[in-house]
Amino acid sequence: MFNAEMFIDETVSKLREEISGKAIIACSGGVDSTVAAVLVSRAIGERLLTIYVNNGFMRKGEDEEVRKMLTELGVNFQIIDASEEFYTALQGVTDPETKRKIIGEKFIRVFERSAKEFQAEYLVQGTIAPDWIESGDGVRDTIKSHHNVGGLPEDMQLKVIEPMYDLYKDEVREVARALKIKVSERQPFPGPALAIRVIGEANRKDVALVREACAIVEDELEKAAADGKMVLPWQYFAVLLPCQSVGVQGDNRAYGKTIAIRAVESLDGMSAAYSKIPYEVLDKISMRITREMKQSVNRVVYDVTNKPPATIEWE
Ligand code: XMP
Repeated sequence: MFNAEMFIDETVSKLREEISGKAIIACSGGVDSTVAAVLVSRAIGERLLTIYVNNGFMRKGEDEEVRKMLTELGVNFQIIDASEEFYTALQGVTDPETKRKIIGEKFIRVFERSAKEFQAEYLVQGTIAPDWIESGDGVRDTIKSHHNVGGLPEDMQLKVIEPMYDLYKDEVREVARALKIKVSERQPFPGPALAIRVIGEANRKDVALVREACAIVEDELEKAAADGKMVLPWQYFAVLLPCQSVGVQGDNRAYGKTIAIRAVESLDGMSAAYSKIPYEVLDKISMRITREMKQSVNRVVYDVTNKPPATIEWE
C-alpha cells in the first residue's frame, strides 16, 4: 500500500544527497510538475529555479493562474514567453510523433538557456510511470512519445532528476494532497498541451479555436457536476479535427470545422472508458460551441471510444 508521507520524506532526503548544485524545473502548473517542484524545493530551497514556459498552447486563463499559484507556493520562479519559437518550429508539421518530438526538443532548449543563466547542473522532470511505459522501454512499442521522455536530445548537458519516476497518477495525487498543493484534484493536461488537440498543424488560429472549445467543455461539465447532474469525468476536453463539413446558418450554406468532445473515466490514464455524459449536458456543450464559435465551427461530435483501442488524446 502506497504511503504518501513516507514517499515524501524518503524522496526529499534522497534528493538532498543527489543534487549537489543548482537545479531547474519547468512547471506547467499541472499536478506532476508542481509536485516535483515542491519536492525538490523542499530538498534544496533557493537552489531550485522553477520556470513556467509559455509555449502558446496553454488553456484559457492558465498563464495567470500559474503565476498566482507559483507565487503562493513561495518557490523561486520565472516566466518565459517562448510562444513564437514553438509556433515557428511547428509550421507545416502535421505528423503527431514529429510534433511531440519538436515540442519536447524546444522545451529542452528553453530549459538549457535558462539553466545556463542560472548555472544549473540538473534538470528536474515530473515524469511518472505511464509516461515512460507508453514511450516504449525497449519491450513495449512506442505508443506516443510523451514530451518529457521522447523529446530529450542526446547532446543534452543537464543531469536529469525524476523524483516521481515510479509513481502512477493516483499516487501523485495522494502526494499532492499530503503536500497540500491545491492542484491535486486538477484534471491531467498533456505536456505538449493544446498543440496535440489540434489534429494536424498547430497554428495560432486553430489553437485559439480549440482553446475556446476546451474552455466551454470544462465550464459546462464542471457546472453540471456542481449541480449534481453527473460526476465530473477524470479528464475532459475538446479536439479540433482537420475535417470540414457542410452546415446551414440562417438561410445560407456553411462549410465549417468540427470539434470532438472527449471525456473519460480512468484511474491512471493507462486505460480509460468514455464517460456516459447525460444528453442534456452534451446538448448544452454542442449549442454553446456552435453558437459562440459560429464563424468557424458548425459540427460537434462525441468520442465514444475506450482506451484501448483508442488513446485518451487524439495525437
Ligand atoms: P494517452 O493519450 O496516451 O494519454 O492515452 C494518457 C494520459 O497522459 C496524458 N498525456 C501526457 N502527459 N506528457 C504528459 O505529461 C505528454 O506528452 C502526454 N501525452 C498524453 C493524457 O492527457 C492522458 O491523461
